[in-house]
Amino acid sequence: MTYERIRGMYDILPVDIGWWRLAEAAMIETARCFNYREIRFPIVEYTELFARGMGEATDVVGKEMYTFPDRKERSLTLRPEGTASVVRAYLNEGWATQAPFQKLFYIGPMFRYEKPQKGRCRQFHQFGIEALGSLDPSLDAEVISFAWSMMDRLGIGGLWLRLNSIGCAQDRETYRDILTSHFSPFVDQMCSDCHRRLDENPLRILDCKEPQCQPFIEEAPGSADHLCADCADHFGKVRDWLDRLGLEYRIDPRLVRGIDYYTRTVFELMSEDLGSQDTLLGGGRYDGLVETFGGPPTPGLGFAGGFERLVIVLQEGQGAEPPTEGIDLFLASLGTEGRELAVTLAKHLREAGLSVDIDHRDRALRKQLTLANQLSSRHLLVLGNDEAASRRGRIKQMERGEETGIALTPDAIVEHLTKEA
Ligand code: HAM
Repeated sequence: MTYERIRGMYDILPVDIGWWRLAEAAMIETARCFNYREIRFPIVEYTELFARGMGEATDVVGKEMYTFPDRKERSLTLRPEGTASVVRAYLNEGWATQAPFQKLFYIGPMFRYEKPQKGRCRQFHQFGIEALGSLDPSLDAEVISFAWSMMDRLGIGGLWLRLNSIGCAQDRETYRDILTSHFSPFVDQMCSDCHRRLDENPLRILDCKEPQCQPFIEEAPGSADHLCADCADHFGKVRDWLDRLGLEYRIDPRLVRGIDYYTRTVFELMSEDLGSQDTLLGGGRYDGLVETFGGPPTPGLGFAGGFERLVIVLQEGQGAEPPTEGIDLFLASLGTEGRELAVTLAKHLREAGLSVDIDHRDRALRKQLTLANQLSSRHLLVLGNDEAASRRGRIKQMERGEETGIALTPDAIVEHLTKEA
């Protein structure tokens, strides 16, 4: 019997790891440049955290969470996102009062029971940032600038930024009423989910992908036209900063995002190369979330993106490529003494930081040479009993086919390979 993978959860195999590391390194390096510090939080949280934080009426909370009781019948959930956990940690650490301004980033797996397709999985991996403790529009611009900078670092083109403001809690109430009036006359022609959404939260109708609902969504009034003076001013200043920084955006008056904690600025970075799952990353402000979790009024904002989608874009030839793999040296061996020398040399050379491999299956020399090629070894040493006795051999540079006589000591080999590199 063999076991199957769980649907929508994938192994990330050695052939793809280079792409993942490239994307992760871009995130870590961008975070360093923008001075965001890394935080790692548990994969499991109390269900309540996400239900209250993200909103009961959202698709994520309503139908996509992996929720189960623990042995004491407490309801736990595999994290579907990072923002709620960051805010929880922020409060647990007492930062809300002692160090309210925080810039944090995270990388890690998230879980949502969605219908799997290209770029949409049940275990996926997010990179995200959260900046807490400032309402200043320059921080909104910094967060958006971070997203662009990371993509620039990876050389990814064909991207565009959707931007909107959904205003403060009061504006959202007003906008909800406006949407209710707009959709009510058509509700019979809309999908069953949208029926429910009209009562629970009409903003969620704007995320609906059902074709029958699109004509009514396209006609819906935009949120940015119904902002209070403070929120309109904030949105204007965010746009001014983006203009000043030369960061492009397109206003999308119906962008509301699928999570309930958002206030004011919302944005998504879209890729022309992703097909239907074309949102590379998304985020916005959540100025009420710390308070929802029992903390003092504290603004916050951030974004998260999916590594799976980023890797698809990179593998389609958009931008940077991972360095070619391969090892520094393969030690082929013949006979007992040759093999002994190979095993001991490999140990010392690995300790010196070289990537070195040997044969472990007692293969004929010809097969060992094939293996050296398969491993893309940059150098080859063949060690037989003669080499073991004389402690001299010939090291071959594989690409050029050049051979050089060499003393078979770790120091001499390290020196030779360092010169070659
Ligand atoms: P989100 O829009 O739900 O926002 O997810 C952010 C990104 O995660 C998406 O744009 C997408 O790239 C990726 N993603 C989401 N679901 C999947 C999936 N099933 N498979 C593959 N990739 C996926 C959030 O999660 C918010 N916490 C973002 C945020 C941070 N807002 C403020 N701070």
